[in-house]
Amino acid sequence: MIDIHSHIIYGLDDGAKTFEDTTSLINMAYNEGIRFIIATPHYHKYFRYKTEQMESRFRFIIENFAKEKPEMKFYLGNECYLNENLLEALLKGKCKTLAGSQYVLIEISYYTPTQMVKKMLTDIIENGYIPIIAHCERLIDNRDDLKKIAELKTMGCLFQINACVILQSQKKWLSHWISTSLKDHTISFIASDSHDIIHRKPNLKEAYIIVSKKIGTEIANDVFCNNAQKIIDPTCWQEHRLE
Ligand SMILES: [Fe+2]
Repeated sequence: MIDIHSHIIYGLDDGAKTFEDTTSLINMAYNEGIRFIIATPHYHKYFRYKTEQMESRFRFIIENFAKEKPEMKFYLGNECYLNENLLEALLKGKCKTLAGSQYVLIEISYYTPTQMVKKMLTDIIENGYIPIIAHCERLIDNRDDLKKIAELKTMGCLFQINACVILQSQKKWLSHWISTSLKDHTISFIASDSHDIIHRKPNLKEAYIIVSKKIGTEIANDVFCNNAQKIIDPTCWQEHRLE
């Protein structure tokens, strides 16, 4: 499996605090069957760190795991908070796309007005990026919010949900929306958004089994692996947009 949303780089955001935390997260991810991880530290004003610091810690992680777990591959990105400065940060390379692709993992506040969200995303799309809306379930509080998701889909946004949404019980209408959206490919990615090994774990295995049983193995393989493969394989993303 491929995890496109994780906070494994230590000491940058509210994810791993120390290299030991990073090691625990990666070992747990490995035991869950995850082999490729995109590290996505928050790019958000609450978390102040230098891009070079993020890159050097990322390299340190790769070097440390190269011998111990050679089949594990790591890629770099950011979870980019949507505001009026994001496009410029992307263009300047301060904020990272996923694995050097044109896909950007974007976090949107539920409270940012929809018209503003649409305007900022339009600018980002017009500059050649493809937004993947991180944990889009957080934008859905009531049935009316589903219209907002539909509008963002029409604009060309892709959607990621966190595995915990599959593992925890949800309101009936939301469960129905998740099932339908997996079946019709509205949701392209299920990722862990892992922060630690206790509360926000890299827990994809059980979610994969549930989606396989409820929705089907083909869709499960797409949302836990194949779609993400298109992000990390540059020969894919240069030629294709996800359907
Ligand atoms: Fe996150």
